[in-house]
Amino acid sequence: MGSISIKTDEDIAGMRVAGRLASEVLDFITPYVKAGVSTGELDRLCHEYMVNVQQTIPAPLNYCPPGYTPYPKAICTSVNDVVCHGIPGDKVLKNGDVINIDITVIKAGYHGDTSRMFYVGQPSILARRLTDITYECMWLGISKIRAGAYLGDIGHVIQQHAEKAGFSIVREFCGHGIGKIFHEEPQVLHYGRPGTLDQLQAGMIFTVEPMVNAGKREIREMGDGWTIKTRDRSLSAQWEHTVLVTETGYEVLTVSAASPAPPALIEESHAGKPAAVA
Ligand code: MF3
Ligand code: CO
Ligand code: CO
Repeated sequence: MGSISIKTDEDIAGMRVAGRLASEVLDFITPYVKAGVSTGELDRLCHEYMVNVQQTIPAPLNYCPPGYTPYPKAICTSVNDVVCHGIPGDKVLKNGDVINIDITVIKAGYHGDTSRMFYVGQPSILARRLTDITYECMWLGISKIRAGAYLGDIGHVIQQHAEKAGFSIVREFCGHGIGKIFHEEPQVLHYGRPGTLDQLQAGMIFTVEPMVNAGKREIREMGDGWTIKTRDRSLSAQWEHTVLVTETGYEVLTVSAASPAPPALIEESHAGKPAAVA
């Protein structure tokens, strides 16, 4: 604890741009997420858009944390029982699949990191419920953010909401500080107790990105060194935003024209105020 960076005004301006651009990649790819497309094709389309249209750098490509092999693609595509870090390839999407697409771009040295869930055709009732609850979990966690709050407040509300629905929270992966570095302090756990861990200060920037399983929380790693699946092969969902802590609340940085609206339970608690609560 204790080395969470406080961003300068210049950093915050750069992070707003990077965040919007990351979200715009998701806007761009949305119409292509259909039965018959391969995850490799989604990666190719996003990669071209980032490099040629946005002039951004895909942060995942060749990303190599200690103990890992270099990540081989520009985006992550996590289908059905894949929890996170699915590597795009020959897999063809079919009706009923659910997929998380996770985008991290670098612009002028700053990282924007965001992911959404997509339905391929008509989702099952379970897939829809898991996706909706996970979206609410992310937003409930975000809604706790303000100077003086605790990281444990975020984890607690996320865990409570997922477990109340009969789902489970993945423990091995968490949100993270982000800026000129892709993954920095703090770790933002998606479970925990209120009033514990670091206290938030205005100018901190981190992600909230809960991974929620329909079955048990245990995971297994595939032989490719990256792909994480649920151990019991149950469905898994994830949403992610990059968020700035302000004195009185938060500002979601990964927003764009087609960002999904916050869920009703957040709109209600903020009485119609916009998503970015300054
Ligand atoms: N974007 C992921 C996150 O939310 C990290 C992906 S690392 C990669 O932190 F190398 F797999 F892309
Ligand atoms: Co992230
Ligand atoms: Co991400």
